[in-house]
Amino acid sequence: MAYKHLSLLAFPISLLISTVLCQTPIPKKPLGFVFNNGKSSAPVHLEIYADLTCPDCQQAWPTIKQVAEVYGPDKVRVVFQSFPLPYHTNSFVAAQSVAVAEGVNATLVFPWIDVLFKNQNQLYNFQTMDKNRFDINNIVASLAPKADISQSAMKDGLSEASYEGQARLSWKHGCSKTVASTPSFFINDVIVNEADASWTLDQWKKLIDSLLQK
Ligand SMILES: *[C@@H]1O[C@H](CO)[C@@H](O)[C@H](O)[C@H]1NC(C)=O
Repeated sequence: MAYKHLSLLAFPISLLISTVLCQTPIPKKPLGFVFNNGKSSAPVHLEIYADLTCPDCQQAWPTIKQVAEVYGPDKVRVVFQSFPLPYHTNSFVAAQSVAVAEGVNATLVFPWIDVLFKNQNQLYNFQTMDKNRFDINNIVASLAPKADISQSAMKDGLSEASYEGQARLSWKHGCSKTVASTPSFFINDVIVNEADASWTLDQWKKLIDSLLQK
């Protein structure tokens, strides 16, 4: 009699198993791109979750770079996390391309991020409405030489599963940390809700100085 009901358990058990399998993949190393060799021992870890095709992120990034430069790598470690928003049609390709740049040569990641931000108008939804994925890859590859990355290395990289996987993982990681818009900022793993793209160097300094005070 009891055995008859065992089959009823199969469904919840399979659900449970699939839930376990659906956990965010654990990355092999901490995700993100460390700017300017910010040290892991720095007391302040500032992370920006950014979409490379987002105008607000384009606005915020130079200020975050200034923060890194003003404090230096011993005090503030800045990490750039890719968070491609689904409603920015080409943001996932852009996120992939950063992984490709790292694969080509890790020193090219930030020059490449600057090139993408500077040329992001070429990747906006409206401007690319009549383009397919093949065209988008070509646009991204055509920009690559501006950061000393060969066009062919970028084009090949954009069809490699490992870089695609990296971009997926960065998105899943951001979701698991409840990131839902860009730019989002975390300091020492706590989301800084009041910060936005318009924050000036002085606003960041006010916050960071308060944390550095003994
Ligand atoms: C990466 O780029 C840097 C600076 O452009 C260069 O010094 C270095 O040799 C490159 N590394 C490789 C493996 O090509």
